[in-house]
Amino acid sequence: MNDYIQKLSPVSAVIGTQWGDEGKGKLVDILSEQYDIIARAAGGANAGHTIYVPNPQNPEETTKFVFHLVPSGIIHENKVAVLGNGMVINLPSLMEELDTLKKYNIDLNGRILISDRAHIVFEYHKKIDAIEEEQKGDKKVGTTLRGMGPAYQDKIARRGVRVGELLEFDKFADHARTTFLTLQRRYKGLKHDLEKELEEIRRMLGLLRPFIADTGAFLHKAIKEGKTILVEGANGTHLDIDHGTYPFVTSSNPTSGGLYTGTGIGANKIKSVVGIMKAYTTRVGAGPFPTEIHDDLGDIIREKGGEYGATTGRPRRCGWFDAVVGRYAVRINGLTGINLTKIDVLDELKTIKICTGYTYKGSRLDSMPASTDAYDDLELEYIEMDGWMEDTSKAKTYEDLPENARKYIEKLEELIECPIQFIGVGVRRDQMIVR
Ligand code: GDP
Ligand code: IMO
Ligand code: MG
Repeated sequence: MNDYIQKLSPVSAVIGTQWGDEGKGKLVDILSEQYDIIARAAGGANAGHTIYVPNPQNPEETTKFVFHLVPSGIIHENKVAVLGNGMVINLPSLMEELDTLKKYNIDLNGRILISDRAHIVFEYHKKIDAIEEEQKGDKKVGTTLRGMGPAYQDKIARRGVRVGELLEFDKFADHARTTFLTLQRRYKGLKHDLEKELEEIRRMLGLLRPFIADTGAFLHKAIKEGKTILVEGANGTHLDIDHGTYPFVTSSNPTSGGLYTGTGIGANKIKSVVGIMKAYTTRVGAGPFPTEIHDDLGDIIREKGGEYGATTGRPRRCGWFDAVVGRYAVRINGLTGINLTKIDVLDELKTIKICTGYTYKGSRLDSMPASTDAYDDLELEYIEMDGWMEDTSKAKTYEDLPENARKYIEKLEELIECPIQFIGVGVRRDQMIVR
């Protein structure tokens, strides 16, 4: 296991490089053994991070956990999980996750900290999410309907309600009522029993209160004391509100910049940023996806890869690896290394295509187009590589991989201009090759 951390720095991060669901949870879970603190920085319950780990009560069995708000490192004993200030948190969803952990007898005492500056996602945010999607007609984003956009809108409009306010419940409730009134005026169809929701939140307070903290100060002190921190990114680079395929994006910054603003860790502190990159590409929801496969092969990859949303269960759109998407992520995030995941999903393919570049109106593009309209007229350059037609799921070292799989990996590395340090060959912890 030590091989993992030797490649990284004491304060490191793991982030998504494509459109989410690249397999961030799995690497975070593996690396967490070596880190003291695991912190989330952005997003909320739109994220779904899956891990397959030995059942905490019966290690012979493998148990699947899906985390939406709680950092994926929580399964490891004695680690502290931080829900950072950049997050937007739906309290019932959080309670549900905590309940699941408690069912497995996972001790949470002193191990969960929720930023007093994180914003609360109320049930009315979810309803507004649905109203906004409905109003968009055929321009729907295909959001997760978890209230992300509306909660971040309130934050930016400076009327959002923050977790720290819960500590003075009456003031908190008044603030929520005022904000809700503003929204009711704006969204005529919005029907919601806020008083009932506030009462439910009041009942959760006993459990939540000890978790609320100034997590920025906590992380700063931890760094000074020489503790190790792993920041767990959510969503993906191309879902970033600034750098993604706007407007088909989420409402926060899942790129590396968001790790700093979303935790309060100084920008010079995170020395390793590992980008998680699937050996092919997937996307849930609407929006540009240049290398999407529209025939049966897309279905084959979806079934083999289990490509169904961990949050919404929606089938994920599947396509070839896109090196333009990858290079862009390396650049925007300053990635120091890559974890290529799900190489095993390609085991049965005879030939594998890689998109190496885009041409738009006769010019080769160096980057992703800013306008979604441009995607309709892109010409894609592809190269084809021979598949390996062998099972890679039992490979333990790089040399165990078939020659054609290694050739594929080395070609991707050359195209994205970043070292591939880790290679995933299955869902379990032991199915990760360190290079
Ligand atoms: P995340 O949101 O980035 O954490 O990813 P998700 O959990 O939404 O989706 C990734 C899926 O791929 C999960 O079901 C993982 O268990 C699975 N996965 C991760 N790495 C690998 C891998 O190397 N091979 C295979 N076959 N599955 C993987
Ligand atoms: P993880 O962390 C995949 C997508 C949604 C939608 C768009 C906006 O599991 O990789 P939102 O609900 O955020 O307003 O939806 O962003 N999206 C994700 N897709 N994985 C995620 O997270 C995602 N988080 C948001 O599908 O297209
Ligand atoms: Mg996911």
